[in-house]
Amino acid sequence: METKVEAIPSQADQKLQQEFNQWAAAGRGDEMEDHHSNILDQTLSLMDLQPADRVLDLGCGTGWASRRMARLAGEVVGLDVADEMLRRAEQASASITNVRYVWGSAEKILLFALDERWKYKALLAKHGFSNVQARRIPDRSPSPETYSGKWFKYTEELRDFKRIGALLLIAAK
Ligand SMILES: C[S@@+](CC[C@H](N)C(=O)[O-])C[C@H]1O[C@@H](n2cnc3c(N)ncnc32)[C@H](O)[C@@H]1O
Repeated sequence: METKVEAIPSQADQKLQQEFNQWAAAGRGDEMEDHHSNILDQTLSLMDLQPADRVLDLGCGTGWASRRMARLAGEVVGLDVADEMLRRAEQASASITNVRYVWGSAEKILLFALDERWKYKALLAKHGFSNVQARRIPDRSPSPETYSGKWFKYTEELRDFKRIGALLLIAAK
């Protein structure tokens, strides 16, 4: 059973929840494995996961990456704001004992609200983590010639987003 981090989502989170629940229902959560495995491959080689490690997969979707990380790490927690994504994640993870899913918003754990590396370090240090490393993993998968979705204004903005890449935080506690 998934744990709820907060009972009442903010308006922004409700919008995200609705949007991504629709994605999940349309099967787009599973499609993301194809789109994002390039990032996960690069991330996994940097993380060098060991059985004593614990991983938080923020915005885990249907949990394909959480399941892959659970093969290497001791414990993986997937957090997502879309309950339909989590329902699918739980279904697909029924036989895995070291992964669990939590419903909640990344905004509520502050990490997304901050953007510079020293801020992550200060925040994690405040919560008792040491050896904090923050790095970006560029998404090297091919981009469309012309972007027609609604998340980015222009194709160039999508390219910049992919060039800047996903955020990987590694710390010890
Ligand atoms: C583009 S999908 C990526 C899913 C997965 N990480 C992957 O790479 O396939 C984004 C996911 O993040 C979740 N998400 C977006 N904003 C979020 C937030 N503020 N808090 C928690 N989850 C969020 C969405 O519900 C969705 O499942």
